[in-house]
Amino acid sequence: LSRKSFPKGFVFGTATSAYQVEGMANKDGRGPSIWDAFVKQPGIVANNATGDVSVDQYHRYKEDVDIMANFNFDAYRFSISWSRIFPDGTGKVNWKGVAYYNRLIDYLLKRGITPYANLYHYDLPLALEKKYKGLLSDQVVKDFADYADFCFKTFGDRVKNWMTFNEPRVVAALGYDNGFFAPGRCSKAFGNCTAGNSATEPYIAAHHLILSHAAAVQRYREKYQEEQKGRIGILLDFVWYEPLTRSKADNYAAQRARDFHVGWFIHPIVYGEYPRTIQEIVGDRLPKFTKEQVKMVKGSMDFVGINQYTAYYMYDPHQRKPNVLGYQQDWNAGFAFAKNGVPIGPKANSYWLYNVPWGLYKAVMYIKEQYGNPTVILSENGMDDPGNVTLPKGLHDTTRINFYKGYLTQLKKAVDEGANIVGYFAWSLLDNFEWRSGYTSRFGIVYVDYHNLKRYPKMSAYWFKRLLQRKKH
Ligand code: GCO
Repeated sequence: LSRKSFPKGFVFGTATSAYQVEGMANKDGRGPSIWDAFVKQPGIVANNATGDVSVDQYHRYKEDVDIMANFNFDAYRFSISWSRIFPDGTGKVNWKGVAYYNRLIDYLLKRGITPYANLYHYDLPLALEKKYKGLLSDQVVKDFADYADFCFKTFGDRVKNWMTFNEPRVVAALGYDNGFFAPGRCSKAFGNCTAGNSATEPYIAAHHLILSHAAAVQRYREKYQEEQKGRIGILLDFVWYEPLTRSKADNYAAQRARDFHVGWFIHPIVYGEYPRTIQEIVGDRLPKFTKEQVKMVKGSMDFVGINQYTAYYMYDPHQRKPNVLGYQQDWNAGFAFAKNGVPIGPKANSYWLYNVPWGLYKAVMYIKEQYGNPTVILSENGMDDPGNVTLPKGLHDTTRINFYKGYLTQLKKAVDEGANIVGYFAWSLLDNFEWRSGYTSRFGIVYVDYHNLKRYPKMSAYWFKRLLQRKKH
């Protein structure tokens, strides 16, 4: 495996997100997001950690960009914090926040790293949650498009790769079905949530996410794209769902899981409507697109980012729980992590993450076949080290090297078989704030000592450095 195993111009980068790495959450004029509020509830995050300081990329961005350049990466996928630009979500601009992203972008370009900017990584301005219940209101569509417009206008002379939302499925399902992520809403029947309705809210939030995405893309295309010559897409998480047996019922269970996962978003964007399965199962609870909206949504991507980590076996549980309505109950599929006693793959630290390289291959080939072989960026892939990781042991991450070898081999296979994949981003550059797991989960190819925020490249970073070296001739 080497850079040469991939087509000419194939881009290799690393990915992070604003709240997970920036720090300075309450400083330099940034307004709070729904995650700032969420993490402050005791018991939500491991050790009650927050992103207030995180790994302080806000101040250490030069050091981080130098690492990317020294380790031969071509690109950096970061996210812009909406409430750092607009502390109230709309209206007054925080110019200090604008200046930060200008510094970051300029330094990336100076070091030859191409910026890939994502506009939303879970961090809705808290002001909009308070004002109109955030994603549950269609008012968010215009506010997001205005924020996106401002970013295109301000940074688009240098940023040519835009992404609207990261993992809208996670936002809708974890934010509104099981309450695991901000804003933590769910039906009483499923959790301890004090507010929410799992039968309707995930679908409403998802609908507004799709419309917000499409409205931002429309602005970009109408006002900026011709002049700035960039491209714009969305980032979808895609666990590969493999039927446990060859039975019709298990096949259909796996198909439901795929449709309610990735089809929920890519199907409207490619075909202008929700997948058949979702329409049939959710029925009247599913919001509808007007004719005008279909026009705006259909075709609203130049590329799709796929965040791919793992795969599960799915089976048909044969019966539905009576009288329980909710997103997870709608697709009603059972999970299995082993088949005939053989685990699907070695487990990482995160409970949801098994090392299953063939899942990546199947996922990207599925996108190719079902959705007209769109331009794909493998926008996240990686693992967190199992066990208690301390220095210096934490630098010897051979498990991670094996993980990357396996997945990149499968990615190459898909490219060789005609999948239109143009880039790959490892998650993550650095150990960082891993949402509910706080700092107990390390996904970085660079170790961060949380006592002093010093960076130490792990063996996997050196592995990438070799993989990505350009032979001089
Ligand atoms: C995402 C992910 C990342 C996680 C990563 C490891 O939404 O892109 O949640 O933010 O840190 O997937 O779990």
